[in-house]
Amino acid sequence: TTRRADPVDHTELPPFPGVRSARCPFDPPTDYAAWREGEGLRRALWRGEPMWVVSRFADIREALGDPRLSADDRTPGFPVPAPAGSEVAQSFVRMDDPEHIRLRRMLTGEFTVKRMERLRPLIQEQVDHFLEQMISQRSPADLVSAYAFPIPSMVISLMLGVPYEDHEHFQEHSATIVRSDATEEEKQAATMALAGYMYELAARKQHEPADDLISRQLQRVAAGEISHDTVVVNGMALLVAGHETTANMIALSTLALLEQPDELARIRDTDDPAVVANAVEELLRYLTIVQDGIFRVATEDVTVGGQLVRAGEALLMNLPAGNRDATFSATPDTFDADRTTRGHLAFGYGTHQCLGQPLARVELQIALPALLRRLPDLRLAMPLDQIAFRNNTITYGPHVLPVAW
Ligand code: HEM
Repeated sequence: TTRRADPVDHTELPPFPGVRSARCPFDPPTDYAAWREGEGLRRALWRGEPMWVVSRFADIREALGDPRLSADDRTPGFPVPAPAGSEVAQSFVRMDDPEHIRLRRMLTGEFTVKRMERLRPLIQEQVDHFLEQMISQRSPADLVSAYAFPIPSMVISLMLGVPYEDHEHFQEHSATIVRSDATEEEKQAATMALAGYMYELAARKQHEPADDLISRQLQRVAAGEISHDTVVVNGMALLVAGHETTANMIALSTLALLEQPDELARIRDTDDPAVVANAVEELLRYLTIVQDGIFRVATEDVTVGGQLVRAGEALLMNLPAGNRDATFSATPDTFDADRTTRGHLAFGYGTHQCLGQPLARVELQIALPALLRRLPDLRLAMPLDQIAFRNNTITYGPHVLPVAW
């Protein structure tokens, strides 16, 4: 049976994202368990707008696999519409198939598991560099700014061929773009600044190609496969998607492990890479840092999770709730480094599933054990309940994480 929407007084709808419990910063907002258990879908307010929140594991997969739900921000009803008259080209991230997949395929070769395996020495080198730099600044230090952010930022810069000297510049703009509380004007300004930077970089590389992702994409321009604008907008998308997410995973994972010394020891003391890889997968599931921003809009009347969703209505994928669904994972609220968690939703699902996941995995598999082994005495330098978390951003994690060793 399909559940129809009740006429609702919007002022009584709960907010999305929900409010997390002060007791355990790793658990999803407390409301979510009830949302998962109720019939149909739950409505919630996202920045004052009512939306359908999809919270069950099976429903999220159903929704993200349904081509009638659009990820294109030019589709009527999309919560964050494409800026009118923008000079920046549309990114494949905000397109639907078949155009989305055609453009995405131009990049998939850059992120294969095989390619990432070859990148391991380079990533290890960067990890060791930032680790030694943090240590040289003496205990205590802020793990977020000294370790968690610089690593993915440097790695994606090296992959793209962005000179690291420019990293502060683009990190600032990309932080503004992903901040849910930034105004549209602020976001637009940051997008334009980043676009201008990328245009210049691509122009330089056209004359002096190097062994990097942007130079290889420019060869596709020469071959008539994509436009110069696409290279620019893809570079921006990778820059933005590539460091906030992984950075917050490094920081929040470290905190979670410090709170569970037995699980921490499991990662630190093993010489089996498969144990580390498995623990990283479970951290991705348990922490599910993408807490907001996974929108779709119905292009026709659709039933999702037994709920009738009208054409033009928006849906939000509640990934943290889905990954704590007992139908997916027995004892979903425990972190268990040794459990198998294949098929979790931390990277999304379906055609838009994270392009950078092989990179994110390798970064985490290197950064976490390196930190724990080099600093076996690592500990929090501030009581857990005084740590402030990012609640208004797409990705969740601590603002700062003071650690000592
Ligand atoms: C898409 C999560 C790291 C690039 C996504 C999506 C999620 C996600 C949930 C789906 C978005 C949607 O369906 O609307 C994560 C997490 C990461 C991570 C948790 C780190 C732990 C990265 C990295 C890169 C990257 C390192 C690139 C360097 C992308 C891109 C997309 C994407 C380009 C859009 C793919 C498409 O639309 O086809 N990511 N991501 N991500 N991610 Fe990641």
